[in-house]
Amino acid sequence: MSAVPEPDFLKACRGEAVTRVPVWFMRQAGRSLPEYRALRATGSILDAIAVPEVASEVTLQPIRRYGVDAAILFSDIVVPYHAIGFGVEVVPGRGPVIAEPFASVSDLDRLPDLTDELIEHVTATIDLVIPELAPTNTPLIGFAGAPFTVASYLVEGGPTREFAIIKTMMHRDPKLFDQLLDRLVAITISFLRAQIEHGARAVQLFDSWAGSLTKAEYERFALPATRKVFEGIADLDVATILFGVGTGELLGSMATAGSNVVGIDWHVDLDEGRRRVGDKAVQGNLDPARCLAGEALAIEATREVLTLAGTDTGYIFNLGHGVLPATDPDVLAAVVKAVHEEGKAGVE
Ligand code: CP3
Repeated sequence: MSAVPEPDFLKACRGEAVTRVPVWFMRQAGRSLPEYRALRATGSILDAIAVPEVASEVTLQPIRRYGVDAAILFSDIVVPYHAIGFGVEVVPGRGPVIAEPFASVSDLDRLPDLTDELIEHVTATIDLVIPELAPTNTPLIGFAGAPFTVASYLVEGGPTREFAIIKTMMHRDPKLFDQLLDRLVAITISFLRAQIEHGARAVQLFDSWAGSLTKAEYERFALPATRKVFEGIADLDVATILFGVGTGELLGSMATAGSNVVGIDWHVDLDEGRRRVGDKAVQGNLDPARCLAGEALAIEATREVLTLAGTDTGYIFNLGHGVLPATDPDVLAAVVKAVHEEGKAGVE
């Protein structure tokens, strides 16, 4: 029996030696690609996600264009909440907006369990993607929002800089906050399990707004729910990544959540990030803005990141947050090439 070799991306997640440093980009499927804009036209992104033929094509576009080592499902962190009818829209240029934000105990009834029927469009998308990725043995990354980040949208009603309403709720009414997070844990586990059962070989939990919390708040109000999510999928064969923005002071705590990999945003040098997460694999952390000033400067910035990544195993190259819409796709293609040719971390 000739065993199919394990992809470098999955090996790196598990801290094993690789043939080349693997690379993919958060938000690689989306607005920076002209072929995405052409396909997507107008309307809500949730409408595009609802059509498996469209969503699968958008998932595959960056694979063809960049030769990245993993695909990420074209979806959004609010998809399960849209599916259960919580009343979520995604407004272009702004983000998720909730018509009636979560405010009291009676709103818990608006967060029923996620059934497979409600997310058939998501699993149908995965069913279309998997055979297309098979010839190159490219893994698919599924994802979900971490409970705290999702809660911040559901409670605030939209994007916020201050997190005033959710912080007030968690300190004034911690019982209600915990009940909310318990509901979100259950929904998140169902959402991830469905993606994994249909073929996602890795999942990333986006705790994008965890960086708004102090370490003590993170450990009390965000980490326990995140840990329960990873426990809820621990019986499945899947690599796991936990990512947040502005989380430099939280990395040591995030490393205890139960993921294989901790994502590092660009505020923390990778060598220091590696020290803070201990023996976990790390992913990151090129500042997305450094891809905007042309290819030569982006490659220079890529080399700085590769140097700080060092030579130890357990490293996946990525940006420190999502691709910015104005990014030239040719620059990202050049970054992929440089990482594959010059990366040393864990290369056997
Ligand atoms: O990474 C990928 O390529 C997969 C696709 C993906 C999308 N959203 C598609 C999308 C992923 C991984 C997400 C995750 C997501 N969504 C996060 C976590 C990651 C992060 O950036 O921290 C968050 C916070 C959201 C919520 C959300 N959805 C925001 C803040 C926005 C941006 C609003 C805007 O237009 O500026 C969205 C919309 C969205 N989700 C777009 C895409 C491609 C852009 C809008 C569009 O094409 O209509």
